[in-house]
Amino acid sequence: MHAIPVIIDCDPGHDDAFALWLALGSDALDVRAVTAVGGNVDLAHTANNARVVLSVAGVSDIPVAAGAAGPLARVLETAEGIHGANGLGGPAVLPEPTFALEERDAQTLFADVLTAAEEPVAIIATGPITNVAILLRDRPDLHERIREIVWMGGSTERGNYTPYAEFNSWVDPEAVDIVVRSGIRFTMVGLNITHQALLTPAVRERIVAIGNETARFSDELMEFFCRTNDEMFGMPDGPLHDPVAVAVLAAPETVTSRHVRMDVELVGTETRGVTSVDLHGVTGREPNVHVAMDLDVDAFWDAVVAAVSRLA
Ligand code: RIB
Ligand code: CA
Repeated sequence: MHAIPVIIDCDPGHDDAFALWLALGSDALDVRAVTAVGGNVDLAHTANNARVVLSVAGVSDIPVAAGAAGPLARVLETAEGIHGANGLGGPAVLPEPTFALEERDAQTLFADVLTAAEEPVAIIATGPITNVAILLRDRPDLHERIREIVWMGGSTERGNYTPYAEFNSWVDPEAVDIVVRSGIRFTMVGLNITHQALLTPAVRERIVAIGNETARFSDELMEFFCRTNDEMFGMPDGPLHDPVAVAVLAAPETVTSRHVRMDVELVGTETRGVTSVDLHGVTGREPNVHVAMDLDVDAFWDAVVAAVSRLA
């Protein structure tokens, strides 16, 4: 099978961890690099957590670089209420990463990977999309080296950080606007579909029953994530947002998308970061984003379990 070369840009984060594991354990993807961004927690923690997540899975040969500490034009607000102070709440002590952070920053690593790749590389972003926006803004020469961009963020319905804005979009709406306007194929994986990826007790049991180190480590993460989602949103079966973005490329048969118009709100007081998705063409504007709409839930979890089973 031809494996799609990918870069994962993330802010681990419990669901980012599963996004990384799905990507690493999928033979449809070839993870060339991981970049961290300030989001769920500060950059120092997300850059550390990305390496912890890879290390637990037995992976130490993929470069992990630190990117932007915060959004382009706003002040970072983090999400410890869901992810805990260190971003991977649950385990009493996080294991130390088995490899060092890249000396190169995320932008240098992006450029090196994109330039060296034998074909255009897909970027899957599962946090505020600041790093990707900086790449597109500063390196127009590299646009042709990017196959497509898939992003967990936004929503066709209500939000989660404000009544109508999803967290990743709210943190850096200017970054979303840059990515949408770039013209590079862009798939938005919003809350409308990620709320279909629920960590039910049966799903959690399936994952823990895999029995490897990754599954054991994930058990405490899932317990914490479900508890905080229950406390904050009344969702005891925590929605595992980020791996759905990976599934778009790792298991495309599990996700149905529509090519529609989406514009992100930059100036609204109450509506900052709202992804205005025109599902019925009422704006008359040209479609510009592929919006993930429906998930084959059973097949999705089969893909997650199969991927985690291939890890340490
Ligand atoms: O709104 C959910 C998104 O925000 C997920 O990516 C989660 O990890 C947080 O970053
Ligand atoms: Ca995330």
